[in-house]
Amino acid sequence: MKTVHVDLGPRSYDVLIGRGLLDRTGELMRKETRCDLPNSIETKPILVITDPSVKSHYFEKAWNSLSRAGYINLSGYDPEFTPVSEERKSLETAGKILRTLAQHRVSRSGTIVALGGGVVGDLAGFVAATYLRGINFVQVPTTLLAMVDSSVGGKTGVNLPEGKNLVGAFHQPKLVVADLDTLKTLPASEFSAGMAEVIKYGAIKDKALFDRVAKGVKPDDSDLDEIVEKCVAIKARIVEDDEFETKGQRALLNFGHTIGHAIEKATGYNTYLHGEAIALGMRAAAWLSVWQAGLPEAEAREIEASLIANHLPVTLKSEVDRAAILSALGNDKKVAVDGLNRWVLLKKLGEASSGHEVSIDNVKKAIDLLYTPISHQS
Ligand SMILES: NC(=O)c1ccc[n+]([C@@H]2O[C@H](COP(=O)([O-])OP(=O)(O)OC[C@H]3O[C@@H](n4cnc5c(N)ncnc54)[C@H](O)[C@@H]3O)[C@@H](O)[C@H]2O)c1
Ligand SMILES: [Zn+2]
Repeated sequence: MKTVHVDLGPRSYDVLIGRGLLDRTGELMRKETRCDLPNSIETKPILVITDPSVKSHYFEKAWNSLSRAGYINLSGYDPEFTPVSEERKSLETAGKILRTLAQHRVSRSGTIVALGGGVVGDLAGFVAATYLRGINFVQVPTTLLAMVDSSVGGKTGVNLPEGKNLVGAFHQPKLVVADLDTLKTLPASEFSAGMAEVIKYGAIKDKALFDRVAKGVKPDDSDLDEIVEKCVAIKARIVEDDEFETKGQRALLNFGHTIGHAIEKATGYNTYLHGEAIALGMRAAAWLSVWQAGLPEAEAREIEASLIANHLPVTLKSEVDRAAILSALGNDKKVAVDGLNRWVLLKKLGEASSGHEVSIDNVKKAIDLLYTPISHQS
């Protein structure tokens, strides 16, 4: 088992990464959360939030492990199961769960466990952040994206009809338990989507990691623990520097996300998974880096090859509206002039910097490139 410690003073915690950990979740949590609470762990109520697919695969195993570790409910209710989806990562769902906690008179010694991907983690974290102004929270991520990104860093939140993640709070978990075995049942497209974030970490901070993942990664690869550990460590160091996103260091994590988010918005969030949109955004950002930050062309091509090796899209579907992407990026002039879009660019693989302003002509050129298959590119 690998451990990455996230050092945030009183809010510090460990991220545990390995295989077969789900079976040990209760025991691992017990160790991690027992000392700072007035009640003994045995009297701690616990609410597991998950979603239907994850429930069918893993809820029983997780719950058995929690029961074995003494997480029994003394106030007379069964572990709750709350199905969620991106549409239901909402205030309404959060309200329902909050009311359940209140009806069962759960006190501050209660714990919320998020068993699932980023949707479950964000929602469960938001509930844990707001119930009684904050109760214990444990993340058990079951998607690659959640393991390397959303379960670490303390950002929690829900969507509004007006936009994604508009309501939220910073609330760090007490522990993150990432069981790589759960990735075996993850749909292949979801695994690839998580790989987009992994490639991003390599591109912005770690050339050796980039070189490894450029060969392609599969859920049963024996070095997957090291790959996830490296990503989590990169995110942990950035979060340690800028826990509440006030200094700008966290911006590096947005490599590929400016155009990626615009693609998601322009396609109504229903054409590409987040990681797929980010893959396209990284291809664009790689060439912007060539044109404006001195990234060698050969390295931009390495990024493209890495995306392809990990089954990620590098070309936009022809029906995606170019004008809609540009408008999602904001007023054309502002993109370049007012610096509303702060771009993260690469000087070389493994070295990124933020705060770049790019010319609108180059933004348009980069988007046009996304309609061009790799083989036709000069
Ligand atoms: N808090 C943060 O810092 C942060 C960072 C990035 C993304 N996010 C959020 O994360 C969310 C996306 O998370 P995601 O990509 O994990 O998506 P997700 O939670 O929707 O999971 C993807 C799909 O995989 C299924 N699934 C999950 N684990 C599985 C498993 N082991 N086996 C089989 N099926 C499984 C889920 O049921 C779902 O259908 C978004 O809401 C995004 O806003 C948050
Ligand atoms: Zn992302």
